[in-house]
Amino acid sequence: MAKPSLLTFFSLLVASTLAADPDMLQDICVADPNSAVKVNGFACKPAAEVTEADFFFQGLAKPGATNTTMGSLVTAANVEKIPGLNTLGVSMSRVDYAPGGLNPPHTHPRATEIVFVLDGTLDVGFITTANKLITKTITKGDVFVFPRGLVHFQKNNGDVPAAALAAFNSQFPGTQSIAATLFAATPPVPDIVLSKAFQIGTRDVKKIKSRLAPKK
Ligand code: GLV
Ligand code: MN
Repeated sequence: MAKPSLLTFFSLLVASTLAADPDMLQDICVADPNSAVKVNGFACKPAAEVTEADFFFQGLAKPGATNTTMGSLVTAANVEKIPGLNTLGVSMSRVDYAPGGLNPPHTHPRATEIVFVLDGTLDVGFITTANKLITKTITKGDVFVFPRGLVHFQKNNGDVPAAALAAFNSQFPGTQSIAATLFAATPPVPDIVLSKAFQIGTRDVKKIKSRLAPKK
């Protein structure tokens, strides 16, 4: 066989670093959250202890309670809820929206997201790194994609509840909510940083911080 060229090697390297979760090397590797061994993901629990319960979850069956500050609730079905997802590179969420509810701007550092509208109508969008907003109104049965790492949101502008199912190409996509990340971090991001970044006074920064502080 011909020796792979340096270019092929680098293409493969780039392809593997651009992929989402690493590929699996065995049939199953059910997460053992109690393992002392630290790996990229979770260590596998002993095969003899694996049961169907490791691959099963009923938490998306019913609408989540949307009486939250934003009027929306995300219920995740990731490796934390389904240990059998460990190393499989996929997960899901269900999002419920009250009338007027917002799933506020956020990113998933480890996954592209594809949503399917179960009920209602949503105004959705994401913003590219060139600062272009890609937005659309989607309704029951429609699908929309949010590329990995890009800031996105969904808003229910209807006067009835809405719901969507989201799928991710990661067992644990991670979520960074933009407003909460900046204004409700622990320890806090210094007021002066936010004041300069947002071109507002520190009084306004403090006001936003107090509104977004986690409820006690
Ligand atoms: C929707 O954007 C979600 O992350 O569940
Ligand atoms: Mn999302």
